[in-house]
Amino acid sequence: MAHSVQQLPYDLTALEPHISRETLEFHHGKHYAGYVAKLNAAIEGKDEDKLSLLDLVKKGPSTAYFNNAAQTWNHEFYFNAFSAKGAREPSGDLAKAISAKFGDFAKFREAFNAQATGLFGSGWTWLVLDGKGELAIVNTGNAGNPVNDGMTPLMTCDVWEHAYYIDYRNLRPDYLKGFWEVLDWNVVGQHYAAAK
Ligand SMILES: [Fe+2]
Repeated sequence: MAHSVQQLPYDLTALEPHISRETLEFHHGKHYAGYVAKLNAAIEGKDEDKLSLLDLVKKGPSTAYFNNAAQTWNHEFYFNAFSAKGAREPSGDLAKAISAKFGDFAKFREAFNAQATGLFGSGWTWLVLDGKGELAIVNTGNAGNPVNDGMTPLMTCDVWEHAYYIDYRNLRPDYLKGFWEVLDWNVVGQHYAAAK
């Protein structure tokens, strides 16, 4: 069963000016779609063809298809967490948990930004529930996904340069400012509720 390219749940211009149409045309239409195509080519006709995308990722980085499976999963998780008009702050149990762990929402964002700007090269910065069920901010390099370290992803920021070079050139901190303007905490809250 081939994996299909998921449509974005918003128009290509919906996240402007923070994430432009041109960025989405390349990031979703070329980079992400390319990972899906390469994943399908790698597993076509094999036993892995029957596994879900997440189960393919959970097989781990030693498999030949891991990079394309994880990049497909990571990008779908990333793109689906944005909206033009969503909650720009966490609420309910997630807001309480963030305040308990990081002090308050502003301090959480500072810590997340520091982690994301500190990631050398390409990768992803995540808010996760760790193996003990505690909130944590972690980085993964390249295609890495925290599920392979026993953690549950709640939210992610793609810090590959292809995510921001068109709009922000090399300025990852400026991209992060825009990221917070389009991230929908309703979606993150749903992941948190499901994980708990
Ligand atoms: Fe990306």
